[in-house]
Amino acid sequence: MNDLPIRLRELLLETGYTIDGVRARLGDVAAGALAREETVPALRATADGDPLGTLIRLWWLGVPVDGRAVPAGPAGPSVEELAAAGLVRAEDGRVTSTVHLQPWETGGHLVSDRKVRPGDPALRPDHVVGAGGASANLAQLASRRPAGRALDLGTGCGVQVLHLDGRAEEITATDVNPRALELARLSWAISGIDGVDARQGSLFEPVQGDRFDLVVSNPPFVISPAGRFTYRESGLRADDFCRELVRRAPRHLAPGGTCHLLANWLHVAGEDWRDRVGGWLTGTGCDGWAVQRDVQDPAEYVELWLRDAAEQGTPRHRELYDDWLAWFEAENVTGVGFGWITLNDSGSLDPVVRVEEYALPVELPVGGYVDRVLEAVTTAHRLTDAELLDARLALADGVVEERIGPPGAEDPARIVLRQTAGLCRSVRVGTVEAALAGVCDGDYPLGPLLAAIAELTGEDPSDLGAKAPAALRPLIAEGFFHISTG
Ligand SMILES: C[S@@+](CC[C@H](N)C(=O)[O-])C[C@H]1O[C@@H](n2cnc3c(N)ncnc32)[C@H](O)[C@@H]1O
Repeated sequence: MNDLPIRLRELLLETGYTIDGVRARLGDVAAGALAREETVPALRATADGDPLGTLIRLWWLGVPVDGRAVPAGPAGPSVEELAAAGLVRAEDGRVTSTVHLQPWETGGHLVSDRKVRPGDPALRPDHVVGAGGASANLAQLASRRPAGRALDLGTGCGVQVLHLDGRAEEITATDVNPRALELARLSWAISGIDGVDARQGSLFEPVQGDRFDLVVSNPPFVISPAGRFTYRESGLRADDFCRELVRRAPRHLAPGGTCHLLANWLHVAGEDWRDRVGGWLTGTGCDGWAVQRDVQDPAEYVELWLRDAAEQGTPRHRELYDDWLAWFEAENVTGVGFGWITLNDSGSLDPVVRVEEYALPVELPVGGYVDRVLEAVTTAHRLTDAELLDARLALADGVVEERIGPPGAEDPARIVLRQTAGLCRSVRVGTVEAALAGVCDGDYPLGPLLAAIAELTGEDPSDLGAKAPAALRPLIAEGFFHISTG
């Protein structure tokens, strides 16, 4: 590749076309409106014709700008060079972008197809979508553990590679859409990343026989009656694509390897969604953790994705909406869940799967502690009662206790343990677990601690010893307590 991407990057950075630079230039109100896809405040804020304002209008807002206002800096590419590279069109002194070029939170830049906004022409079927909330969501979920080989399946504009860069020694990125790979290569070049092994093909076909320490995918998870747009729909029936990803990923994980996916799943009348998603994970041979972060009813879901393709207000809106709803109805769909799926090839002959709903805010990035979450789940499952009573239990860092009750009462009506970090879970506990939380610091085995608590509370020590493992196992699985190895 020629040096245009490098010179373009220098120009973008010099002009302040970065996440912080754009936010500062737009101000809170216009930046907030833009996050809601409303461009009018941003257009007003960038009307001066200054270099940064011009780049924002050209690359982000997608409106024509005066060719003389486009900055080139001492070594930056000229409008003619940008036009020759297919990044802009220049006509009668006006310059229009042919792509969307956005700064990203890693410090790099991403090239995708132009954003569609209400009133724009219909999306092409092979539209390459820019990075957004879901991209950031997956990037936050992925483990921070250094990886040898990493795979980004369905790379699109290449955003996950920007996050993997520096964390993985080798990066492979795949996509079924050749245009996506073309634009992703440009994103990586402008972001100063080289050596990515980009391969075209569906699902795991391009990496047959390859294994990875880390697999990430923000797949085309949208569930619709027809695969109209490659960027969001695979063409497979219902939620089969996500199911296939889960089922096939383990064959491409190296020992100890981890896979993180975003997914959608159906809620079908008469079926518990946990059984559906649990069924995908069971039998993979991997430990698994699936979390439903959100659920939408059929109408909310259809509206979201019609809006995403700027189809509200178009002549076909009503028909598309109606067809989609009719298909959901025929399939007995009551809602669609969105969430995270993590698989870990721990090599255990007794893999553990946890499927849960958890919609509350969590500490970011989840990737900073996701390995510990999975370890807690598997530890809780694998410890026998006897092992648990022999183990030295410790309260996890950042767990606080809340006692709630009528003022002046001797005993609280409710005791809650709350995590102030990680998933920030809270749980109502009994007096024994609360007493344990107060004393277990990893120094003493659980058995003697329970005996001491029994003496204080007047409970039968053997009763307490028999009941405690069942009460403590969920608290270990959810990260309130851990087994001390020190
Ligand atoms: C939602 S976009 C994700 C893009 C990017 N990775 C991100 O995190 O924002 C899904 C990507 O999957 C690709 N895709 C669609 N069907 C696929 C398939 N059968 N196999 C592999 N990739 C596919 C699309 O072309 C698109 O680039």
